[in-house]
Amino acid sequence: MATAEMERIVLVRHIDGAPSPDDFRVERLPIPELAEGQFLARNHYVSCDPGTRSRLSPGASYAPPLAPGAPVDGFCVGEVIASRNERFAVGERLAMSGWASHVVSNGRGYCVKLPDLGVPESLFIGVLGIPGMTSWFGLKRVAALQAGERVLVTSAAGPVGATAGQLARLWGASEVIGIAGGADKCAWVKDVAGFTACLDYKAPDFEAQFAALAAPGFDVMFDNVGNAMIDRALPHMKLRGRIVVSGQVADYNTPVDQVPGLKHTREFIAKRLRMEGLVVFDDLPGFAAAQAELAALIRAGQLVYREEVFEGLASLPEAFCGLFTGASFGRRVVRV
Ligand SMILES: NC(=O)c1ccc[n+]([C@@H]2O[C@H](COP(=O)([O-])OP(=O)(O)OC[C@H]3O[C@@H](n4cnc5c(N)ncnc54)[C@H](OP(=O)(O)O)[C@@H]3O)[C@@H](O)[C@H]2O)c1
Repeated sequence: MATAEMERIVLVRHIDGAPSPDDFRVERLPIPELAEGQFLARNHYVSCDPGTRSRLSPGASYAPPLAPGAPVDGFCVGEVIASRNERFAVGERLAMSGWASHVVSNGRGYCVKLPDLGVPESLFIGVLGIPGMTSWFGLKRVAALQAGERVLVTSAAGPVGATAGQLARLWGASEVIGIAGGADKCAWVKDVAGFTACLDYKAPDFEAQFAALAAPGFDVMFDNVGNAMIDRALPHMKLRGRIVVSGQVADYNTPVDQVPGLKHTREFIAKRLRMEGLVVFDDLPGFAAAQAELAALIRAGQLVYREEVFEGLASLPEAFCGLFTGASFGRRVVRV
């Protein structure tokens, strides 16, 4: 690619159902001249987040849908290589948004300077980025986890789920039960990430295994997948249990009128349950302190993570689509 050009991923069409790599294309364009107040960053890594799916079809989300032909947003880390903004010097490393080789920005929106925490920079779009922050604030602020509580985590091998389960143990949970797809993921969740147990929801005897392990109930459910799992867990929640609605990866590809409903809402009355969602950016002021604590846990070997690295921006659509087939195992990032 000529130095004066950049690449970015654009949406070809609105997506109906599961995304496919041909719903995206790589677009090349000249890098624009910087206006006063702007800087140019070259991306090192770009991330794959299930939440990006919610903007790829028309319909309600907390962010407006993208139009066909629009560049796709996702998180990235990179380095300032030219600047006409005194707040962003050449060489500064940043976490930003954009599925692109380069970002031209004036520093508004999500644009965070990377502190030197002695960990690889790709972690700032992983366990120290939006996924890790979701785990941290979902458990601490939304669930208000207390020591001695019993926790259920879905999509437990993913970056949000694996971090949430490990933090729950570090913060004193009595037991942390994970749910993930397949024996390999479950083995990693239990043996490497240190959950008490992990159930394979694709196994033929899953329902029986779940019923057996659910007793004596859960104080906290940290849900990443959606309504079917929440409805399954509701009868097993303990008095004053809390359900954190982190994400709905099983439901993102389904039109709202076909998403499974919740039948067991009576449990909310008898057990005084609370179910609450979060948009992690509400907790932005607390990110730096949480990142410093998470990095210290990583450096001390007390928190593990799994990363799958794809090479080149053109591999991003395929890497992203694998989030919805169960192909991904840990944080998927693309080295640009
Ligand atoms: N609220 C917020 O502010 C916020 C911020 C960031 C992320 N999130 C949400 O957090 C959740 C987890 O994100 P993540 O980045 O860690 O991704 P992730 O959990 O790794 O998501 C991909 C994984 O989801 C699982 N999955 C896919 N389809 C499924 C299905 N039909 N049923 C059950 N599981 C399915 C697969 O794992 P298995 O093989 O185990 O099925 C897949 O590997 C997502 O829902 C995301 O949107 C929320």
